[in-house]
Amino acid sequence: MTTWVLISLTRPSAHLWDNSGYRQQVSLDVGQLRADTPGCEEIIHLNNAGAALSPRSVTNAVTDHLRLESQLGGYEAAETAADKIMHTRSSIAQLLSVDAADIALTHSDTSAWTKAFWGLALAGWFSSGGTVLVDSGVYNSHYFALLQAQQLFDLQIELMQLNEDGSLNLDDLDSRLDSSTKMVTATHVGTHKGAVSDVAQIGARTRALGIPFFLDACQSAGQLPLNLSSIQCDVATGTGRKFLRGPRGTGWLFVREEWAERMQPPGIDGSSATWTSLSSFELLPRAERFQEFEYPIAAQIGLGVAVSYALELGIEAIANRISGLSAKLRTGLQQAGAKVHDGPGPQSGIVSFTLPNVDCDYLAGQLKLAGINLSVTRAAWTRFDMGQRGLEAAVRASPHVYNTEAEIDYLVNQVAAS
Ligand SMILES: Cc1ncc(COP(=O)(O)O)c(C=O)c1O
Repeated sequence: MTTWVLISLTRPSAHLWDNSGYRQQVSLDVGQLRADTPGCEEIIHLNNAGAALSPRSVTNAVTDHLRLESQLGGYEAAETAADKIMHTRSSIAQLLSVDAADIALTHSDTSAWTKAFWGLALAGWFSSGGTVLVDSGVYNSHYFALLQAQQLFDLQIELMQLNEDGSLNLDDLDSRLDSSTKMVTATHVGTHKGAVSDVAQIGARTRALGIPFFLDACQSAGQLPLNLSSIQCDVATGTGRKFLRGPRGTGWLFVREEWAERMQPPGIDGSSATWTSLSSFELLPRAERFQEFEYPIAAQIGLGVAVSYALELGIEAIANRISGLSAKLRTGLQQAGAKVHDGPGPQSGIVSFTLPNVDCDYLAGQLKLAGINLSVTRAAWTRFDMGQRGLEAAVRASPHVYNTEAEIDYLVNQVAAS
């Protein structure tokens, strides 16, 4: 165990409204959170936007199932775990306030997003051409699919404009949405900065016009309340390893029933379709058609445990804790002479910064030597937004509930000394 990890055991609180309308105080016990998270003893982990430290219960669930596979056989172990896998789908559905029948488990955010996108394309949705609206935070893997689709279809890609305060320019959006709009895709929290987009403004419009709205919730799931019914998106995607604290190699896909039934997802197998005759197959209903037979069952079980852990803590309480730590970090970094690049508007737990005349990779490397995990975010991941701001790279720190105020101070002091 490293001796420089200063642990301050505070009990931050969130205020929640219960069903009867009373305001309740919900506390997170940071000491318990850290005791639940073995990695906290090893490192100051501020790369939760990359992959967070899993709670011990998640690792145990994964290794228990792997052990079962080695003892019983993979198929036989899966039979005993059917309810656990269903639990993963239903806990994700609870997190998102949607029906579990509309949740499919995937390997990553990208595999989820591309299955839904190409599901539309294979159903002929883009055959007559049209326009796709994207936001400036669009992640590279989603945009790559759009560029690939442009090689096949007469698709125009248009960028939704923002106001100076970071909010969506609704007049611009309204002027772009018309009968040629084939799809809108937006990012709740970009990979590269703190700003949180008001995506419900999009959903209200696309739902009224019958245009499919894809929401990238990869960085918001697990750190912010996420009610897809009120956001009114038709597709939402995320990954397990980030703020949800699940294992690597896991992801999830939500597709609203009406759209799922119209999609012809690529990569179907016996878990997503039935082979009805030599010249025909039938896709399974709703989200089942996006499932694949082969996936890391142990990891998917672990994801369910991670989501339950978050739900038990309470997403409001998690959001409150992360917001407090990241606000402290932003202030401290500015006082230390760093430039924070999080953009205007409401902020999440992603804090991007640069130091004048200090190379980002060098700085991240120095911080790693000081025992701090964080990452460098690059324009190649979000070319629109970082390109517009002339930013090639920024150091990205992303606290989670188990980080302490002392760890934030330690990072700030290291940056100040760099
Ligand atoms: C905002 C955002 N969207 C999508 C992705 C892609 O996630 P995955 O690597 O699980 O496909 C990422 C990954 O960092 C991301 O930050």
